[in-house]
Amino acid sequence: MARYAHITGWGMGVPEKVLTNCELMQTVDTTDEWIRSRTGITERRIAANEDTTASLAAEAAIQALRTANVKPDQVDLVIVATSSPEHIFPATACIVQDRIGAVNAGAFDLLAACTGFIFALNMGTQSIRSGSADTVLVIGAETLSRIINWKDRETCILFGDGAGAFLLQASDEPGGVLSAVMRSDGSGADLLSLPAGGSRMPASAQSVQNGDHYLRMNGREVFRFATRVMVSATKEVLEAAQVKKEDVKLFVPHQANSRIIEAAARGLDIPLDRCMLNLDRYGNTSTASIPIAVCEALEKGRLTPGDKTVFVGFGAGLTWGSCLVQWTGPFTGKKRVHPERYRLLARVRSLILRLVRRIEGIIWGR
Ligand code: ACO
Repeated sequence: MARYAHITGWGMGVPEKVLTNCELMQTVDTTDEWIRSRTGITERRIAANEDTTASLAAEAAIQALRTANVKPDQVDLVIVATSSPEHIFPATACIVQDRIGAVNAGAFDLLAACTGFIFALNMGTQSIRSGSADTVLVIGAETLSRIINWKDRETCILFGDGAGAFLLQASDEPGGVLSAVMRSDGSGADLLSLPAGGSRMPASAQSVQNGDHYLRMNGREVFRFATRVMVSATKEVLEAAQVKKEDVKLFVPHQANSRIIEAAARGLDIPLDRCMLNLDRYGNTSTASIPIAVCEALEKGRLTPGDKTVFVGFGAGLTWGSCLVQWTGPFTGKKRVHPERYRLLARVRSLILRLVRRIEGIIWGR
């Protein structure tokens, strides 16, 4: 019997601190007018000292589990798509897995820059379709503010911090993720990169002095690439499922630049009001931008069960991709758990498991 991956839970976690264009004008040579007219961004959220990629991810994940009314120990797999992981290793996904009490899950990070959430959604879907998992948490989470050069006006105005998560659940009812497209072109790797801190250019006094541990970007070239692939990836994903663009209720593009989204809408010949736009308030949150935009679309009633929606994005790598989804919402007929009690239970469960592991270690002399 065919298996389908339905999105039954969703959540977002964004830092409280808002950084406006006007505040940025105090630190770099820019204007509110330039940023708004060239990018569509008015403000973005910036992580406080105590916020990390994993803490924002865990907040979004807990909300997604709550919406779906699924317990953390029912999760089989946690995938965190991120370009600003907590460390090179261990994976941020493992930290999230522990924090939310997903004690029966495997967890790994996926790196495909801003396209990461789409790739992760497809990987989660394929795990369900193949029968290797029933319940998968897919998370996009970033603290890009920590890898941005705040003196570079061409990049520091663009990005923001935040996280978004979906819970995928298996069902034999048709629906959920209907088709997906994943593409890469490594010949464009230099257009958008973080040169230092990996094995090719390990962190050194010199790399820090040169600012090589900050994000670098050729904005004009990325812009050109983005407008081209947003259109092709959308057309391909619709064709793969034999769905017409007229049958899509809402397009949710990666929130990088409103001019890129407008150009893509023109290229697809669809009205802009069928595209979700919220980058004015969050900037480009990379892997988190699509799930955050979906959470807000749901809040506004722009997506309801049965609607078809396309998620489409691009990013460093270069990478680009899309997913066509028939929206589901929570599987019905289950008891809800109070959010605070739920958070506490997840934490207690995780602590008990650690204690059991420690006792086992003492008994077996490890
Ligand atoms: N304020 C004022 N002036 C600025 C600023 C700023 N913040 N930044 C650049 N300028 C100046 C430039 O120096 C240039 O001046 P010059 O003409 O005297 O040389 C002028 O503005 C125009 O610069 P352009 O680069 O041509 O500006 P453009 O219209 O292309 O906009 C931007 C730049 C916003 C970066 C745009 O190219 C863009 O959005 N590109 C895509 C970036 C993107 O989406 N990146 C994320 C990818 S996803 C991921 O994987 C992370």
